[in-house]
Amino acid sequence: MTRGRLVKRIAEEVLGEEKARHVWSRLDIIGDLAVIKMPLHGEVSVDELRRIAERLLEEVPSVRSVWLAAGSVEGEYRVRSLLIHLAGEERTVTLYKEHGCRFKVDIARVFVTPRLNYEHLRVASLVAPGEAVLNMFAGAGLFSIIIACKSRPSVVHSIDVNRYAYELIIENAKLNNVDHVVKAYLGDAARVVEERLAASSDRVLMPLPALALDYIPYALLALRSRRGVLHVYLHVRVERGSDPLAGAIEAVRERVEREGWSLARADARRVRSVGPRLVQVVVDAEVRRS
Ligand SMILES: C[S@@+](CC[C@H](N)C(=O)[O-])C[C@H]1O[C@@H](n2cnc3c(N)ncnc32)[C@H](O)[C@@H]1O
Repeated sequence: MTRGRLVKRIAEEVLGEEKARHVWSRLDIIGDLAVIKMPLHGEVSVDELRRIAERLLEEVPSVRSVWLAAGSVEGEYRVRSLLIHLAGEERTVTLYKEHGCRFKVDIARVFVTPRLNYEHLRVASLVAPGEAVLNMFAGAGLFSIIIACKSRPSVVHSIDVNRYAYELIIENAKLNNVDHVVKAYLGDAARVVEERLAASSDRVLMPLPALALDYIPYALLALRSRRGVLHVYLHVRVERGSDPLAGAIEAVRERVEREGWSLARADARRVRSVGPRLVQVVVDAEVRRS
């Protein structure tokens, strides 16, 4: 049974079929925390969700704490808003495991989602031995550390503007014995690149759709030769008759060409759905200075 279906089934048993129709079936399990994702809309009360959460604790022994994320992921730090404790230990810090790596995370203070797990490994598998990698929006360091553990980069520069994320990158790099490879920087990625990382890298990750296109000039500034690879994450609206992947490539091409570079090759893929008719897309762009 999928995780979403599990919440639905419990809701049906605890609240009855009629009420259960208003319970969203979105559930993330992050370490030993479970996060039910749905807005509070009046049809189902917090107390009713607490009864579902209590049952979830009984049925999934690895879960110790259940939270409701009633708002979306928002703000500069991209954290879950309107987190409400439902059942179990009142704790937002956990140890999350992905691809054999371990990460300390705090769901209230730093972005983390298990829904990028395929993407983390996919990008790591593209990194060649000896490459210098820059992650401009590193969060708790998931991409950076998985790359450091699975491939053999010379360095993974990892920037985040959130002090707590920056501290977690350092802690998580030590936890996975890759602190000699993963270097953390605190600050706005544009400023950090200008001041410390110009001409430093072969490959640049830009996993923040809100800023990715605008920060392409800084990603290009960070490349250490006339060629390099960018991974640009974008949110694209899915319109009838339009191709979101082709649109994303064109948006990247336009921004790269404005800086006097060109696209030698570009592929795009859907990463995940992020809302009604809204998808996250990644463009893997091999760029060349014209
Ligand atoms: C979507 S999250 C990154 C996800 C992460 N790569 C992962 O896979 O878990 C985006 C991150 O960018 C950071 N951020 C936001 N604005 C920034 C900026 N101007 N410079 C650097 N980091 C920034 C946020 O604090 C957040 O941790």
